[in-house]
Amino acid sequence: MKVRAIYPGSFDPVTNGHVYIAERAAAIFDEVIVSVLVNERKNAAFSVGERCGMAEEALKHVSNIKIDSFNGLLVDYARQKDASVIIRGLRAMSDFEYEFQMALMNRQLAPEIETFFIVTDPKYSYVSSSSVREIFHFGGTVENVVPLVVFEKLKERYKLC
Ligand code: PNS
Repeated sequence: MKVRAIYPGSFDPVTNGHVYIAERAAAIFDEVIVSVLVNERKNAAFSVGERCGMAEEALKHVSNIKIDSFNGLLVDYARQKDASVIIRGLRAMSDFEYEFQMALMNRQLAPEIETFFIVTDPKYSYVSSSSVREIFHFGGTVENVVPLVVFEKLKERYKLC
């Protein structure tokens, strides 16, 4: 039986840390769907279309990864996609409390779906989408922590050369 996993997130934008987790997940599961949250309330820097496009480009080298977007409850979406696993990346202990609570909440909602944690590479342990946006905005270097497509998009978005 093929196991399909969902790797959900805001991906605003996708970072090398996300790419690393998606690649690791794809080496374990038959199919991984990287699913971008459509969250109208959150002040996203990039549209869902842009976030999906960047993830698509950044992960096109992995044949069993697909990119999609979702709205509403994650477990409903996972059921709809016939996925039995939710992937989440862990960077540090500080991630754990939120992730633990989310995993337990999702299990209570959908006991048949397993949350699977993948620990990041230490070189990405400090990388987050929000810090990437802020560092880039104030002229810092983010080239080493985001895929090229994201770096280009950041330049376009913040009109820098
Ligand atoms: O990249 P993020 O912002 O940490 O991802 C969070 C995400 C998208 C996984 C989470 O907010 C989510 O699943 N949202 C969908 C709504 C939902 O199911 N909420 C209940 C989770 S306890």
